Amino acid sequence: MALQIGSAGRFSLLNPKRSSSNNISRIRSSGVEIGESDKVKLGGSDLKVTKLGIGAWSWGDTSYWNRSGWDDRQLKAAKSAFNASIDGGITFIDTAEVYGSGIMGAINSETLIGRFIKEKRKKDESMEVSVATKFAALPWRLGRESVLSALKDSLSRLDLSSVDLYQLHWPGIWGNQGYIDGLGDAVEKGLVKAVGVSNYSERRLRDAHKQLQKRGIPLASNQVNYSLIYRIPEQNGVKSTCDELGITLIAYSPIAQGVLTGKYSPENIPDGPRGQIYTREFLTKLQPLMSRIKEIGQCHGKTNTQVALNWLMCQENVVPIPGAKSEEQAREFIGALGWRLTDVEVEELRSLSSEIKPVIGFPVEKL
Ligand SMILES: NC(=O)c1ccc[n+]([C@@H]2O[C@H](COP(=O)([O-])OP(=O)(O)OC[C@H]3O[C@@H](n4cnc5c(N)ncnc54)[C@H](OP(=O)(O)O)[C@@H]3O)[C@@H](O)[C@H]2O)c1
Repeated sequence: MALQIGSAGRFSLLNPKRSSSNNISRIRSSGVEIGESDKVKLGGSDLKVTKLGIGAWSWGDTSYWNRSGWDDRQLKAAKSAFNASIDGGITFIDTAEVYGSGIMGAINSETLIGRFIKEKRKKDESMEVSVATKFAALPWRLGRESVLSALKDSLSRLDLSSVDLYQLHWPGIWGNQGYIDGLGDAVEKGLVKAVGVSNYSERRLRDAHKQLQKRGIPLASNQVNYSLIYRIPEQNGVKSTCDELGITLIAYSPIAQGVLTGKYSPENIPDGPRGQIYTREFLTKLQPLMSRIKEIGQCHGKTNTQVALNWLMCQENVVPIPGAKSEEQAREFIGALGWRLTDVEVEELRSLSSEIKPVIGFPVEKL
């Protein structure tokens, strides 16, 4: 069955219905059908996830996002984002034990996801969801046991007996061998389907891959900052090493924390910590790229956000996980699937983005 592609993807008028074909499971208000062909295997693991996931860092967080506090309105919006995503067929959700923790007024993102899943399952028992979460390699956490113990705490917050993907959130300062052993133990105990790392350099990636390979366990993914305006993984060997070793690159901050959506401009810089990174000067330099993204989007009936996400998926072996704070944002992501920029457009955007010096957020490449 051919893909039905909507216009800008936001609220076009196709009625949701189930298809009889196994290949197409969902037709949603985005006008895009999402089916098995929109799923990929994560690296060499058996885990299949949607080509695009959704990030849940902002859910419950008050340290970087939602700085004025977490309230009922934000909770409802996050829940709607979760439901819209699942209903739209985007079933891969990324969280971490540190999201929404530690600060007064925050709620742990894992706890929220656990509740969202439970509430949705009450209405739809066969609901499909793949949860990815992460271990925080805090300096006082030593050895492989700390991984299993943190994982069990995550499972308890999520109210799940296993997760689909368990990742080391960042490299440990005392080394990583113990943590990698812990990942292997988690697989062997049946607590996770696949394991990955995050913010790993080429060297650490090779070491982790080799260590797990000795136990016959594939390293499924490396989650790194990657977007049209942050292409460091192409330059530091991470993307090519992922491709060479068959490790999926999961792209975080794929719409540059909202900047690539076009809603921020030199006249409207983001507030909070984002305003320190995406300054007026930076946003001024970004304008030629933003104009071209918009023009290309108009040719395809797509939004800036959908073009930016599609560009990443066109790099192959890349699964972007944009963060959504609302139903509208989540729905817009669905329209990034089911079509493709032309090769000429992909290269033109690459070339235009090369003129922009990436802003340094957390300098993970130097860890
Ligand atoms: N492994 C790591 O170290 C690491 C680091 C960072 C992130 N991550 C993961 O990656 C996920 C995504 O990254 P991210 O949240 O940093 O950045 P992102 O996905 O590039 O941007 C998300 C933000 O963009 C804005 N936005 C989203 N959709 C929009 C739309 N359709 N129109 C307009 N604005 C929209 C929202 O903020 P506003 O509405 O406030 O503008 C949203 O919170 C996270 O949730 C997390 O799971 C992992």
